Amino acid sequence: MKKFLLILFLATCSLFLITGCGGQSQDKTPAEPEKKSVEKTPTSSADKKILVVYFSRTGEEYSIGKITKGNTAIVADYIAQKIGADTFEIKAATPYPDEYEACTELAKQELESNVRPAIEKNIDNLAQYDTIFIGYPIWWGAVPRVLLTFLEANDFSGKTIIPFCTHGGSGLAGTEREIADACPNSKVLSGLAIVGKTAQNDFPAAQKDVDDWLKTLGY
Ligand SMILES: Cc1cc2nc3c(=O)[nH]c(=O)nc-3n(C[C@H](O)[C@H](O)[C@H](O)COP(=O)(O)O)c2cc1C
Repeated sequence: MKKFLLILFLATCSLFLITGCGGQSQDKTPAEPEKKSVEKTPTSSADKKILVVYFSRTGEEYSIGKITKGNTAIVADYIAQKIGADTFEIKAATPYPDEYEACTELAKQELESNVRPAIEKNIDNLAQYDTIFIGYPIWWGAVPRVLLTFLEANDFSGKTIIPFCTHGGSGLAGTEREIADACPNSKVLSGLAIVGKTAQNDFPAAQKDVDDWLKTLGY
């Protein structure tokens, strides 16, 4: 009888252990969401980097005099600092003339022949940015041809582009369309136009316009 009770006891323990194992495997189920949270990481907002790309010229400026930092560069740096973005400056391989008239002449020829002047260096890490602010001066009612060189040399598919310009009175002059045409499959938002002289000589006023605009964009 004692033997029988011992066997019964051992059999009950085994059954308990087997059931216990099954219970453990059920306990593993809640571990699955951990995998999901890993998958989510790459798309979290902390990983979305913003870039401010700009072209800007120094030298002799109409009605301002000689400038050492371009009007667009001033606005670009302010936007980048305000929203914590990286910057990339587009430079022409052959710099534009310092002298204003000579620069306007060259820019006119480039527009008429619709050339793509070489850039000094292309960006090598564009893929990591989802949102790209693009800044430029208005040249002859259009974007400088060298900006098109940069846009056409890169793939902006799936990215959001936010244009901004500085100008002497033309405003954006339809340049958002030029950018949209050069960057198919990207989303081009409404841009901001700042008078060049304001950026150079009345920075607080330019700053306010930028701040108000960034607010409308959710920054
Ligand atoms: C070659 C050239 C062409 C320009 N054409 C125009 C124009 O068509 N309309 C306008 O409002 N301003 C025009 N401007 C003035 C610039 O857009 C303005 O000064 C701008 O702020 C310059 O920016 P930056 O200092 O970043 O180069 C022109 C300037 C240059 C040098």
